Amino acid sequence: MLVNNRHSASTERSAPPRNVVLLGATGSIGRSTLAVIGHQPARFKAWALVARNSVAAMYELILQHSPRYAVLTDPAAASALRQRLPAQVRTEVLHGEQAACEIAAHADVDTVVAAIVGAAGLPTSLAAARAGKRILLANKEALVMAGQVFLNAVREGGSQLLPVDSEHNAVFQCLPASTQGSPNVTGVRRVILTASGGPFRQASLAQIANATPEQACAHPNWSMGRKISVDSATMMNKGLELIEAALLFNLPARQLDVLVHPQSIVHSLVEYIDGSVLAQLGNPDMRTPIAHALAWPERCESGVNLLDLSKHGRLEFEAPDELRFPCLRLAREALAGGAAAACVLNGANEIAVAAFLAGRLRFGQIAQLNEVVMDRLAALPGPTTLDAVLEVDELARRAANDYLLAHPTP
Ligand SMILES: NC(=O)c1ccc[n+]([C@@H]2O[C@H](COP(=O)([O-])OP(=O)(O)OC[C@H]3O[C@@H](n4cnc5c(N)ncnc54)[C@H](OP(=O)(O)O)[C@@H]3O)[C@@H](O)[C@H]2O)c1
Repeated sequence: MLVNNRHSASTERSAPPRNVVLLGATGSIGRSTLAVIGHQPARFKAWALVARNSVAAMYELILQHSPRYAVLTDPAAASALRQRLPAQVRTEVLHGEQAACEIAAHADVDTVVAAIVGAAGLPTSLAAARAGKRILLANKEALVMAGQVFLNAVREGGSQLLPVDSEHNAVFQCLPASTQGSPNVTGVRRVILTASGGPFRQASLAQIANATPEQACAHPNWSMGRKISVDSATMMNKGLELIEAALLFNLPARQLDVLVHPQSIVHSLVEYIDGSVLAQLGNPDMRTPIAHALAWPERCESGVNLLDLSKHGRLEFEAPDELRFPCLRLAREALAGGAAAACVLNGANEIAVAAFLAGRLRFGQIAQLNEVVMDRLAALPGPTTLDAVLEVDELARRAANDYLLAHPTP
């Protein structure tokens, strides 16, 4: 279930600002969220900021937003931050993953923005879910990796999951308000996720094979962290999003499609059985879905420039090419294959992308590595506990590292 009614009453205008924990505060989504919060100080307070080891970035954010807590999971970085902060700053600096989990579950917290990149975001998101928080989910990898285990924690904790990924936020907005989370009962025929096609949309297979990290991270429409930028370039991002959509909206693979839309103005579409297709449009700026999820079920201004369609001219759409972008096919196979396959694919891909960014793998080998690991492990039984999820993830990472050892960069 995506939402429950516990939190859905309107916010009283005179109510104090809601305390927000930002997991991944120093990243791209973290900063976009802080921009929306800065735009809406009467509604939201950046109560705690969490990151890994970006001391200088966290230092600046503390001075700008005066959070009650700042957590760096890296102890040495937290210690450096403490020493650097002026004595009059009242923010308490904590360290370690356990502290981050405690902050995400703190009784004073209403909303947790899950924007740590990769599987590293799972423990804190789970802590927030078990504590019944309103979770604004950007960290798709945690959901793809843990699947039903994550959703069970959301349900059992009485938590509320609101999608921040622009495509899923668009779908959420296009579903009837009364039945979020169960589109099948409302005549939904298909959910269509749009994809920009990334920087290599028109590149040949040969050009793609040897693309550099700089080329892969130069996204035409969105400014994002490096991992998701590479995933956009391989279209694995869209593949992970297909799995994310299946989980969030409880839809089978046959009701999920991808449509390439280079302008990134239409963020996704929902097709109904009567032939109606609803879409959500907006400029490609993550502050819009973040503001939507923060304020839901109300709306608030996000600071984003309003869409002027007369200036955009053509909106184009085309089918995705799974030959040039095999990661999309692999994600479809993972979706058909069940929970272990999704967890395996995510773990392998995280290793592959990190190796590519470190110059240890060619761009074209990302899909190869993922496929080899999938062939080896995708048939494992679906994990039903957190320990089992972590075990499958670890096996996938080991198999991915085996591939790297067997294929040293030329
Ligand atoms: N960027 C987008 O437009 C966008 C859109 C939709 C969904 N998403 C999703 O949102 C998530 C974040 O993406 P991003 O682009 O914002 O990534 P990013 O710019 O690379 O930022 C990642 C954040 O995660 C923190 N982090 C990494 N490992 C951590 C750990 N072990 N413990 C605590 N914090 C850790 C980083 O802290 P340090 O700075 O200290 O390393 C940083 O704050 C990803 O799952 C992505 O798929 C992003």
